[in-house]
Amino acid sequence: MATEIRRIGVVGLGAMGAGIAQLAVEAGYDVVGREVSADLGERARERIAHFLQRKVDKSTMSAEAREGALGRLALTTDLAAFADCDLVIEAIVEELGAKLTLFSELEGIVRGDTVLATNTSALSVTEIAAAISTPERVVGMHFFNPAPLMPLVEIVKAELSSDDAADAAFGVGERMGKRPIRCHDTPGFVVNRVLIPLLNDCLRVLDEARVSPEDLDSAMTAGAGWPMGPCTLVDLVGIDVHVHASEALYEKLREPRMAPPPRIVAMRNAGLLGRKSGRGFYSYD
Ligand code: 3HC
Repeated sequence: MATEIRRIGVVGLGAMGAGIAQLAVEAGYDVVGREVSADLGERARERIAHFLQRKVDKSTMSAEAREGALGRLALTTDLAAFADCDLVIEAIVEELGAKLTLFSELEGIVRGDTVLATNTSALSVTEIAAAISTPERVVGMHFFNPAPLMPLVEIVKAELSSDDAADAAFGVGERMGKRPIRCHDTPGFVVNRVLIPLLNDCLRVLDEARVSPEDLDSAMTAGAGWPMGPCTLVDLVGIDVHVHASEALYEKLREPRMAPPPRIVAMRNAGLLGRKSGRGFYSYD
């Protein structure tokens, strides 16, 4: 396994992937970010440039450091650009089939000692690792939304992950300024195992207590000290992502609290996905 990580590939530059790429360039790594089109890649670069500019404006980063960080970000649409990477972090759509295809393609491109990480929220890292003939190099690196702000990263050891791969991912998390924890590949890992049913309980209370999303959010921020209310949080995470994670956990654990409440499934089906679609529990311009 690679002992030193210098160059990191990020596959998928949506909200999570762009956040992870931002953390990596800020930590001094050379980064290759891959999107399916040049336009989507450029949009991610603009997002990263915007958040780094906010840091400059607030004097928490120098203009030179911002330029340096942006200079370390290369964009590609071609997986072959990952040939020299020491670590590749996957942050694509939460579909097992798409991830299996990607990992088997990556195995044919990267070096033998490259660590492959998945940012999956609720799929099994062990099942993803089974797509390739060298599953010992695969680990989970589960970041939280918004990745640049949330300190936690879960370093997930799958059934066959090597200690070297987990240690390398842990070291990258530390160098990114995160608070990494180690855990095993169980459904939802640590946080989502607790947070998903809790959020689903909150959403059921909307109907049971006939309370508005605004009042439920006030209840949990003002009464339980949450940094943001559950409706705001589900809008941030993405209603489709939350429904998918709930379904995946319900399928594995069969606990009724894991199942997504019908109200939120209907919202997902109607295309109300939260912030990213402009409408969820709230409207966004
Ligand atoms: N990316 C990069 N930088 C960002 C950003 C983003 N997405 N969003 C905000 N920032 C930057 C901005 O520059 C902002 O400053 P600006 O407004 O002056 O430009 C700066 O960060 C601070 O932003 P905020 O003022 O919004 O920060 P807050 O102090 O209000 O904290 C928060 C925001 C950290 C998100 C806080 O509200 C919080 O902790 N919320 C809970 C979030 C949470 O629970 N996340 C976990 C979700 S579960 C999950 O991800 C698991 C998955 O598997 C589903």
